[in-house]
Amino acid sequence: MAPPSVLENCLEDSNSETCPDINWEDIGFSLVPTDYMYVMKCAKGEKFSNGNLVRYGTFEISPAAGILNYGQGIFEGLKAYRTEEGSILLFRPEENALRMKAGADRLCMSSPSVEQFINAVKDTVLANKRWVPPAGRGTLYLRPLLMGTGASLGVGPSTEYTFLIYCSPVSNYHKGPLNFKVEEKLHRAISGFSGTGGIKSVTNYAPVYPATTEAKAEGFSDVLFLDAATGKHIEEASACNMFLVKGNAICTPTTDGAILPGITRKSVIAIALDLGYQVTERPVTVEEMLIADELFCTGTAVVVNNIASVTYKNTKVEYKTGSETVAQKLRKTLLGIQTGTVEDRKGWTVRVL
Ligand code: COI
Repeated sequence: MAPPSVLENCLEDSNSETCPDINWEDIGFSLVPTDYMYVMKCAKGEKFSNGNLVRYGTFEISPAAGILNYGQGIFEGLKAYRTEEGSILLFRPEENALRMKAGADRLCMSSPSVEQFINAVKDTVLANKRWVPPAGRGTLYLRPLLMGTGASLGVGPSTEYTFLIYCSPVSNYHKGPLNFKVEEKLHRAISGFSGTGGIKSVTNYAPVYPATTEAKAEGFSDVLFLDAATGKHIEEASACNMFLVKGNAICTPTTDGAILPGITRKSVIAIALDLGYQVTERPVTVEEMLIADELFCTGTAVVVNNIASVTYKNTKVEYKTGSETVAQKLRKTLLGIQTGTVEDRKGWTVRVL
């Protein structure tokens, strides 16, 4: 008789309710290896068909792979949330699937269909369900990757693509009050089709390490980037979108190709409009940021967080923080929908278990 497939083994093991012995709140946003990852491959010009769950771990890749040599790769980030009743929800996974497809088109890569993406995410969550933290103590962060894994020395689209999802339980991305520094020399991305700031290209992240490393050494939490054309408008921080609040008005920079169209960003705009705030998406100048009442950031990893201060040209400006802020009201509603304590009137959540 043939030995059981990895998938069968996996599904047997995943029935195990053995809860990992970890302090969920202490893990922050660092990698905690889980049991399984999902892998699906396809040749250039073909469609993805069958994926598999395999044991989480290292895998073989050609030294000449497109991802390693020419950065042909994108990633996504989404979370699985445990509800008080013990079920597990995803939040708007089709948005991640569509954004991955947009990024894949931009980088000439094959991509999984929305249905394949969502099913793969669900399979990954179920196979690792013991790693979904208890309600209110963290989430399971899923990291879908799409990469050119075909070998070729010449510059050009890879001959093979690999879609892989791994995951890790996480709690808070940021620790303590957020103090941002405005970066004036380095730009995160350029706008329009010539830039890749609007997709989650893997190549968007390392080029800003000199700025983030310097800022962190100076005691700042993160860097806020300005537009590459004029240096007068705020764009985003290294891993999150930006919003400012003045009275009842909220505004956030337009996603013009330089700024990532965040799913949390889009959801927060919809929630803020429902709560009666006036919300505009438009270019936002540094000057108006400096006189705002409140400043906050959004992202899958960061959720919604107040920014306590911004330092621009060595001058530190402080903002309102605390439970009465607009940001905390938006965060409470968003987290409530994501974890099932606030009614999901928009059909944003997808039940996995
Ligand atoms: C996310 O919020 O999921 C992101 O992708 C940001 C990441 C670079 C931590």
